[in-house]
Amino acid sequence: MGDATTAGRPETASPDLGKAGLRLEVDGAVATVTLDRPERRNAMTFDTWRGLAAIGRSLPADVRVVVLRGEGKCFSAGIDLGMFSGDGEGFSDGSDAAATDRFIAELQEGYTWLRRPDIVTVAAVHGHAIGGGFQLALACDIRVAADDARFCMKEPALGLVPDLTGTKPLVEIVGIGRALELCLTARTVLADEAARLGIAEIVVPRDGLDGAVRDLVASLLAVNPGAAVATKRLLWEAAENTLEEQCAAERREQIGRLREMFGN
Ligand code: CAA
Repeated sequence: MGDATTAGRPETASPDLGKAGLRLEVDGAVATVTLDRPERRNAMTFDTWRGLAAIGRSLPADVRVVVLRGEGKCFSAGIDLGMFSGDGEGFSDGSDAAATDRFIAELQEGYTWLRRPDIVTVAAVHGHAIGGGFQLALACDIRVAADDARFCMKEPALGLVPDLTGTKPLVEIVGIGRALELCLTARTVLADEAARLGIAEIVVPRDGLDGAVRDLVASLLAVNPGAAVATKRLLWEAAENTLEEQCAAERREQIGRLREMFGN
């Protein structure tokens, strides 16, 4: 996807979060990002993804946990379908491949910061998480789902590919065969199956979602901050590293921890 007129434009001004359908609340070490267009089932526009990127860039340094949630009936219905019919910014026809590539990369920044080691990101998913919404949940470190959660990678059914960073975590979580089956049928995964597949780490009754997220956040904050950052970095590296490389990474991180603990 891409916008014909703005492709390649460098991001300068901070977008208006309200216009982007986002709400940000920061309470000490916890930031809560709410997808906030309930009347559109939290459908996301280019501004939403730019807004998410801006939140990532401007997050206060003492924030340790970021929770993403949806207002109203669901987490997110994915891309705002109005954009296909000419509402807001239009789509590129892809003829300027380099500009479209830069444009999509800018939108992907709304998702990539969620993997940063200095924060732990939690998606609190209820109701639908479709397309870009499913990919947003996949971009988070941990997914807590309500028992009414419904995950669907709809893009191929619309003639597109999932391009908001979701293909890598999906394959890593469910394996290539299941990822193919889910994407190429665009079928919906309900909460029970999501738990079995590892798409959701925790599934709770709908009315227990907020409480479960609160408990998880409290547990995450109870862990030593430096150890949490180092361990997240280590775990994210593990999939790419050989055993030898990973052993070396463990030694390196532990030396850092020991130095900090003993003031060296
Ligand atoms: N874009 C724009 N508007 C949307 C929307 C979307 N994705 N999803 C829902 N809405 C709007 C509806 O048009 C409706 O508006 P009106 O009240 O003006 O009629 C309102 O939100 C409520 O929608 P429903 O009445 O359909 O609500 P529901 O609870 O019965 O159903 C739903 C919810 C299953 C999410 C259904 O709305 C739906 O299927 N939406 C479309 C989902 C979709 O195909 N998303 C695209 C995914 S692909 C993607 O995301 C691509 C990408 O990132 C690259």
